[in-house]
Amino acid sequence: MTESALVRRAICPGSFDPVTNGHLDIIGRSAALYDELVVAVFVNQSKSSMFSVDERIDMLTEATVAYPNVRIEAFQGLVVDYCRAHDIPVIVKGLRAVSDFDYELQMAQMNRNMAGVDTLFMPTNPEYSFLASSLVKEIANWSGDVSALVPPHVLQRLAERAKHHQRATDE
Ligand code: PNS
Repeated sequence: MTESALVRRAICPGSFDPVTNGHLDIIGRSAALYDELVVAVFVNQSKSSMFSVDERIDMLTEATVAYPNVRIEAFQGLVVDYCRAHDIPVIVKGLRAVSDFDYELQMAQMNRNMAGVDTLFMPTNPEYSFLASSLVKEIANWSGDVSALVPPHVLQRLAERAKHHQRATDE
């Protein structure tokens, strides 16, 4: 039996700009199902982000400190190429609602077609079905309360960014 047959690995790819409690729900539950879970931060040059890749990795590292089998990495390019290079057969994706399903299904089928990499869909905890990093950023930028939606250290970083945002809009 090869090492890859013994070690069950999976990957949770995403932008994580920033990580939310919804992401952490999926990461924690996935970490319980696999021996090793790579949380992979997608480096997307064409999409503007609030936090740099290093900041996103720092926030994820702190948020997942309780899971010894979780590793945080950055990746560029196709997720299936990362999977092939690191011997990862499964992508785990959280599904918040039916609206997520169409695009996620298309990507899952494409990834399977390209490289034989399977996707496991995990329904999010209903408590987080409305939660998206984009909404968290928008609300935090206008000093709305997102304290129930992100870990405390992420809240602090959002508050720092919000100060800059408000200063910039006041000028
Ligand atoms: O958190 P996001 O922005 O919804 O994550 C999307 C992500 C990064 C998981 C997805 O865009 C992705 O897998 N990108 C990597 C590039 C790739 O493999 N594209 C082809 C998908 S069929």
